[in-house]
Amino acid sequence: MNGSRLHHLLSITDLDRTQAEQILETARAFLAVTRRPVRKVPTLRGKTIVNLFYEASTRTRTSFELAGKRLSADVINVSTQASSTKKGETLRDTVATLDAMHADVIVVRHAASGAPHFVARHARGAVVNAGDGMHEHPTQALLDAFTIQQHKGTDLSRLRIAICGDILHSRVARSNALLLRMLGAEVCFAGPRTMLPLDEAALGGTCYDRIETAIEGCDVVMMLRIQRERLGTALFPTTREYAREFGLNAARLAKAKPDAIVMHPGPMNRGVEISEEVADGAHSVVLNQVESGVAIRMAVLYMCASEPGTPLAS
Ligand code: NCD
Repeated sequence: MNGSRLHHLLSITDLDRTQAEQILETARAFLAVTRRPVRKVPTLRGKTIVNLFYEASTRTRTSFELAGKRLSADVINVSTQASSTKKGETLRDTVATLDAMHADVIVVRHAASGAPHFVARHARGAVVNAGDGMHEHPTQALLDAFTIQQHKGTDLSRLRIAICGDILHSRVARSNALLLRMLGAEVCFAGPRTMLPLDEAALGGTCYDRIETAIEGCDVVMMLRIQRERLGTALFPTTREYAREFGLNAARLAKAKPDAIVMHPGPMNRGVEISEEVADGAHSVVLNQVESGVAIRMAVLYMCASEPGTPLAS
């Protein structure tokens, strides 16, 4: 693939199906690069990528950094704990500062839904949303779709996918619902009633308040963490009760197809939404998701920041 460009990636709704498929196809080429003995190509030499993370992150921040470095870009990580944000600087001034330094891409994670859209209005470079509040996490959905393709083939149209846990507060659930449906999969949701949206039509799939019903006959089970940092009040009685009613264990997983895969974006809360035996079991593709994350972020950075006509790799 060559020549298809993205200005920003703020939401899955920025993509049409052709663009989403192009990112997935580009990531296949970059996955091969990440598996070579020398994992670096000159594709983004001379470009500057800034990771601006206002919320905690291990996988997403590291994989954006690795993705940029594997494309030979200069990658800067701004830790907001050690930045002028601590001295009262506004997001707008921080963005103006990075813009004056000619950042070609700003990768933003923020607790406020819509923050990356704000950054995009004030930066000349491309902006990639690395998770904004309860809104979206588009590169997570792309890496999840990519991981599913690696295990189930590129056509997702006959797959049934259950997303389970704290659906209401999850940007991962929202982005996945949009993307997986766009790619033709059937998506359903399960969680406590207090963690499901009131308007289930907004997600485009059936919501169940019993995890067993959602998992029955599924090809993919995606488990999500309780977003404690986004809960105003207690939405379930105790962690033990949550684990008993909504945790994925081997007995529940047995209701899915025999070759079902189990996914989790991380960080996992073992013993809460997922048992140890399932997290480390034969169906788990959690570490494949991590590997996919680097390839997908390379593809997104390439589409946002490469000069027109730059070959993928050499
Ligand atoms: C997710 C996130 O931050 O939204 N994690 C991630 O990016 N790997 C999910 C979560 O924190 O529960």
